Amino acid sequence: MNSILKCENIKFSYGKTEVLSDLNFSVNTPSITGIKGPSGSGKTTLFGILSGLLNPDAGKVYLNEIDIYKNYKNKILARKKIGLVFQNYNLIRELTVFQNIQIVEDLVRNNRFKIEEILEKMNISDLKSRYPDQLSIGQRQRVAIARALCGNPSVILADEPTGSVDPSNKKNILELFLHIKKVGIPVIISSHDQTTFEFCDKVFSINEKLLMEEYT
Ligand SMILES: Nc1ncnc2c1ncn2[C@@H]1O[C@H](COP(=O)(O)OP(=O)(O)O)[C@@H](O)[C@H]1O
Ligand SMILES: [Mg+2]
Repeated sequence: MNSILKCENIKFSYGKTEVLSDLNFSVNTPSITGIKGPSGSGKTTLFGILSGLLNPDAGKVYLNEIDIYKNYKNKILARKKIGLVFQNYNLIRELTVFQNIQIVEDLVRNNRFKIEEILEKMNISDLKSRYPDQLSIGQRQRVAIARALCGNPSVILADEPTGSVDPSNKKNILELFLHIKKVGIPVIISSHDQTTFEFCDKVFSINEKLLMEEYT
């Protein structure tokens, strides 16, 4: 079976500090994959590597069978086709919710989703004219997910999306991921929260710089 996102023998160090020593995994179907690991275990680093932002010291990352670090063109393609929902949400403070999402829609010709539909689904239609500073953390999170979806991504990577939200927002966010999976987009979520893993089809944990599949 062709993989959607795959990494092989990934090694990564910050200077002399090795963080990831030999990581392998692949996502082949629209599913929710959990990446588990305590703070400092390398989850954000791994997401940087998977999304074309951080070159690994060794190993390969393939998006739809394309080696994303082979050349500059492939790396740009990966950045466009991987929807990132990062911990600080990366929303632009000077732009409204609508404008923040529109940027991505302008960058990528998008046939699968319409911006208004996405706003509706994320339950943020009435927040369109607000600025990021006027939103709760849960609302910012939903805007960040909406923006990632507007890029019509092959896969969504969400780094600790449920880390700083209250239980009711956590449930909303996890249900959104189930919806995204249903429309055919795989989601990879990093977390250290058990409730989050209950929504995952598969969970891998980062242990001693390696990734192990967990059987539950
Ligand atoms: N830019 C950086 N320079 C040096 N060390 C870093 C840098 N970013 C992260 N680290 C270190 O790499 C390890 C993994 O960090 P990170 O990927 O952020 O883990 P997690 O997301 O699981 O908390 C930690 O020990 C962290 O201190
Ligand atoms: Mg992190």
